[in-house]
Amino acid sequence: MTAQRALPMKVPVPGLPARVRIHEVGARDGLQNEQEIVPTEVKAEFIRRLAVAGLTTIEATSFVHPKWVPQLADAEALFPLLGEIVDVGDVSLPVLVPNERGLDRALALGARSIAVFGSATETFAARNLNRTVDESLAMFEPVVARAKADKVHVRGYLSMCFGDPWEGAVPVAQVVRVAKALMDLGCDELSLGDTIGVATPGHVTALLTALNEAAVPTEAIGVHFHDTYGQALSNTLAALQHGVSTVDASAGGLGGCPYAKSATGNLATEDLVWMLDGLGIETGVDLDALTATSVWLAEHLGRPSPSRTVRALAPSSSSASHKE
Ligand code: HMG
Ligand code: MG
Repeated sequence: MTAQRALPMKVPVPGLPARVRIHEVGARDGLQNEQEIVPTEVKAEFIRRLAVAGLTTIEATSFVHPKWVPQLADAEALFPLLGEIVDVGDVSLPVLVPNERGLDRALALGARSIAVFGSATETFAARNLNRTVDESLAMFEPVVARAKADKVHVRGYLSMCFGDPWEGAVPVAQVVRVAKALMDLGCDELSLGDTIGVATPGHVTALLTALNEAAVPTEAIGVHFHDTYGQALSNTLAALQHGVSTVDASAGGLGGCPYAKSATGNLATEDLVWMLDGLGIETGVDLDALTATSVWLAEHLGRPSPSRTVRALAPSSSSASHKE
């Protein structure tokens, strides 16, 4: 008998969503942490391969100040390449937009889905946006209003929902206040960021419950976990048990946390798909095609993927050496 590729046995758990929409962030959140500039054509091909693998929400880039995130300074060159390679009728390509200047740039290129990105803590708001929390909300207000008037879909990211490297534990009530403010601006969805990966499942359930009590519906909530302490999948399962059906993940686990050098990055999309496949939850993602994409990108980056699933399914890729 020839060896078979390992597959998880499908064993559903009652009460979980039948389908999960994966919000793929590798091309933006993952690549923004890469020191060496990745060629625009490689980014475009990465996004094309992600779409071929079945991902339907692929965050493409950011229209932020190029000095703040040099890796994404090619947004104007990248975005037009995507129209040709992705059937945009089926695939949405959200882009990050912090302010009206960013919105003008994104709309000029035909973006139909944007994300503003706030912080639950003052220190991260200052470091990431050069604003207080309330000043950032004021900066987003006209962005969301104009986008909504133009029928552009708006996601509101909220970072540091569980802990902050400068301020420590972040009280649930503090997170709820900013989350509610983002929803009140008119965001269509909210993504709860565990930016430094410190959340645990009980904390996730407590925050989701508090948000519901503040009239933020579960259907509008997505979760964005980092795997720094190995908790990302446990936290995802807690969110699914609460009814969340939008989960952010990054192909190959791309992306570290710039504030915790040894930290692993975002939840790897392959690890997520493995768990969801096993639970019998539909994602539309072809795990083999996705793994091949992450192996391909790892070769470009000269570094193996940190995803356990990628390493298990493509063991030879673990030997990728660093490109000088
Ligand atoms: P600032 O320095 O306060 O900007 O930065 P400003 O409003 O004072 O303007 C200064 C100059 O920048 C002006 O030019 C503006 O036109 C220009 P000048 O008049 O001096 O020639 N400018 C821009 N240029 C291009 N595009 C723009 C833009 N805006 C202003 N959009 C700013 C404020 C928000 C711009 C800056 O702080 C910034 O770009 N921050 C982005 C930081 C970032 O992208 N971080 C990563 C994303 S968040 C994240 O990864 C977390 C997440 O994944 C979830 C999680 O894990 O938690 C979402
Ligand atoms: Mg992230």
